[in-house]
Amino acid sequence: MPDRHFSNLLNAHRSIRQFVDRPVNSELIDRILEESLQGSSSSGNLNMVSVIKTFNAERKTRLYELHFEQPMVLQAPLVLTFCADTFRTRQWLAQRGARLNFGNLLSYHVASFDAIILSQTVALALESHGMGICYMGTTLHSMKEISDCLECPDHCVPVTSMVVGWPAEQPTQRDRLPREAWIHNERYRWPSADDIDRLFKDREVKGWNRYRSMGDEIVSEMDQLGITSLAQYYTSDMKYAPQVYEQDSEKLRQLLEAKGFLP
Ligand SMILES: Cc1cc2nc3c(=O)[nH]c(=O)nc-3n(C[C@H](O)[C@H](O)[C@H](O)COP(=O)(O)O)c2cc1C
Repeated sequence: MPDRHFSNLLNAHRSIRQFVDRPVNSELIDRILEESLQGSSSSGNLNMVSVIKTFNAERKTRLYELHFEQPMVLQAPLVLTFCADTFRTRQWLAQRGARLNFGNLLSYHVASFDAIILSQTVALALESHGMGICYMGTTLHSMKEISDCLECPDHCVPVTSMVVGWPAEQPTQRDRLPREAWIHNERYRWPSADDIDRLFKDREVKGWNRYRSMGDEIVSEMDQLGITSLAQYYTSDMKYAPQVYEQDSEKLRQLLEAKGFLP
């Protein structure tokens, strides 16, 4: 595929949260998943990943609850859950009388990379077929419950999910931080306070306006909490509250212990 086609695909990316009432073909999804794994690097080529497809309405309703009731979970015909999975590999090792491994924190990390690398290849592949996707970070806040819902074994935990379907919206492109913010030449360029002001300026205006235009309810909640900037909004109780991150970090630690990734 010529480079410009790939550039066009990347430029066309938008997270899609509204879907038309049209099914996605399970066989096509399997083919895309298979091709995507083939097209993704994989640590040691062990493929320590599992992808669970959820089409079933009842199970999707349970996932909807676990994904903080994001409406797109009910609207999309398919939810894909990507799991860091060393269970199968460990079984294989045991059956061959090999030394056991991959029941430790590093292995969780390695398997998570496999899962995340695959997820982004799948996202692009689905988009290349005209489908829309949206990741769900809520996966990390309901890992144990999603793991239970999908009957994941030991040494297998969900690390990300995405809704999949045919788009019913054409959102405008969301911009990213400018390249000077995150591309470094040869060594890390430490940003000064002035650099931070400059690098975040555009986003502070656009992001603030975007959230303020989402409806009176959001505006009044922001005002009640005394939020006066985008930065304050991001770590407020409305978005990424530090106390929730602390709590869920502890839940993650407990889950990794229960699933055999921590001593
Ligand atoms: C790991 C991850 C988790 C995300 N979780 C959510 C989510 O729970 N709900 C949601 O609406 N969007 C979610 N998103 C989508 C981001 O909000 C979106 O990618 C970002 O705003 C940029 O917009 P774009 O993808 O349209 O360019 C997530 C994206 C990533 C990569």
